[in-house]
Amino acid sequence: MRLAKNLAHSGVASRRAAETMIAAGRVTIDGATVTDPARDVTGAETIAVDGEPVGAAPRRVVYALHKPAGVVSTARDTHGRPTVVDLVPEARTRLYPVGRLDADTTGLILLTNDGALADHLTHPRYEVPKTYRAKVANPPVGERAVQRLRDGVALDDGPTAPARARRVRPDVIELTIREGRKRQVRRMCEAVGHPVVSLERIAFGPLRLGGLGPGEHRQLTPAEIERLRRG
Ligand code: URA
Repeated sequence: MRLAKNLAHSGVASRRAAETMIAAGRVTIDGATVTDPARDVTGAETIAVDGEPVGAAPRRVVYALHKPAGVVSTARDTHGRPTVVDLVPEARTRLYPVGRLDADTTGLILLTNDGALADHLTHPRYEVPKTYRAKVANPPVGERAVQRLRDGVALDDGPTAPARARRVRPDVIELTIREGRKRQVRRMCEAVGHPVVSLERIAFGPLRLGGLGPGEHRQLTPAEIERLRRG
């Protein structure tokens, strides 16, 4: 089997990411660096990435990423656009985005190799609060519009649940919702007469975007993962 395929099967990374790791000189076979992803392996060799032998069960990891605009939040894009997973190239495991942000939405998105945790955090039953800052058209935003967002607005797929909303500037609304319908914040703001100009997610459950710059990521600590899991 080819080396890159072997690494993908071992859960180290996707095949494409494994090829990049190999080309970058991060992979050794029996102690010798190999840069050819097509190199044949039998399974009897000791393969290591960054000096760590492959084969041990991967640990649970969760990354917080500041998604820039233009990056898609699926694990793979059929149009070849960059994905959030591409922005964490050093992950030695297959990562799944926790929920979705529109391609043009920026801000906090989590990535994990723990499918059960990802399901838990995105399942409507758990109602994880997500906070967004929306810069909107037609300022100033009035109290009536904010109150409508709080009470719930009628969308074509049904009314939205009560939300937290406040005006932080004449043209900026901060909105916390516990649902996760398609383009929900954009549709809610439009419904109250203020189409979204730009949208950023600043918090997901107990986690905040904090000082992460666009495109930056960090690994969550075990305590942060536990807090997330407990909601
Ligand atoms: N609501 C939206 O409209 N877009 C997002 O990306 C997230 C929430």
